[in-house]
Amino acid sequence: MTRPFILAVSNRKGGSGKTTTAVNLAAEWAARGRRVLVVDLDTQGHAGFGLGVDPVKPGRTIHDLFGDSGFDIRDAVVATAWPNLWCVPADPLYDGSGPLRDALLLAGQLRRPEMAGYDIVVLDTPPSLDLVLNSAMAAADGVLVPLLAHALSVEGVKQLSRLFYKTVTTANPELKLLGLLPIMACERIGHHRAVIADIARQFGAERVLRPIRSDIQLAAAFAERQPIRHFAPRSRGALDYYLLADELASSWRWPTVSLELQKKVS
Ligand SMILES: Nc1ncnc2c1ncn2[C@@H]1O[C@H](COP(=O)(O)OP(=O)(O)O)[C@@H](O)[C@H]1O
Ligand SMILES: [Mg+2]
Repeated sequence: MTRPFILAVSNRKGGSGKTTTAVNLAAEWAARGRRVLVVDLDTQGHAGFGLGVDPVKPGRTIHDLFGDSGFDIRDAVVATAWPNLWCVPADPLYDGSGPLRDALLLAGQLRRPEMAGYDIVVLDTPPSLDLVLNSAMAAADGVLVPLLAHALSVEGVKQLSRLFYKTVTTANPELKLLGLLPIMACERIGHHRAVIADIARQFGAERVLRPIRSDIQLAAAFAERQPIRHFAPRSRGALDYYLLADELASSWRWPTVSLELQKKVS
């Protein structure tokens, strides 16, 4: 029996490329035939927007998880316009509060045999340190951390890493840091090189992934509510996410996680 691999895309800093990365990686894996579910945990609703998906009706967003005891995530899944790619949209009115014990509800939903129809779940997370981000850390198998190559973004990574280590020692000992992903980084800019060197020193050079270059087409694709591989398949952004999808897939055990292993852990 298997369940999907659960990937959280997180950084405590806003505007660091989380949503862009979540949406475009999901689209890459879907195009390779993986069945991918994007869960939009940020109440800004950007992942749903970028995938062309809107909340269908009240009671059908991921945030209903907190407060509705009969909630089943499968009822909140919306198909996108592309094969193998689904989304659970966000509730823009959710206020982010709730008892910490609810932080395990998301893991409870996603780590079920009933979710075995998906190969990969991608969690697009909010920057705020709240119940929702805690839920993502407790549910995920791996965390991918996009970061802009400047000091504030690095501070966001340090704050996230504190939460990461807290989660590993409590709710989710199997959680892995899959990689740190420089966004809009340029090799020719001295400050970018210095920030990435600092990140490599702190987290290990092997964890720093090949950067995603700056490409305005990525912003244009989001505005048109399409993944970059469909909006501008020949763009730099499309190539970079294509390569990243391969790199992550080859460095991790895809697509599914044994529920037996999971039982041993919990
Ligand atoms: N590689 C890139 N090149 C150009 N613009 C980008 C790139 N990655 C993200 N952006 C743009 O930067 C902004 C913030 O990205 P976003 O993914 O929404 O960040 P977050 O989810 O962390 O807040 C968006 O307008 C997005 O379109
Ligand atoms: Mg976002």
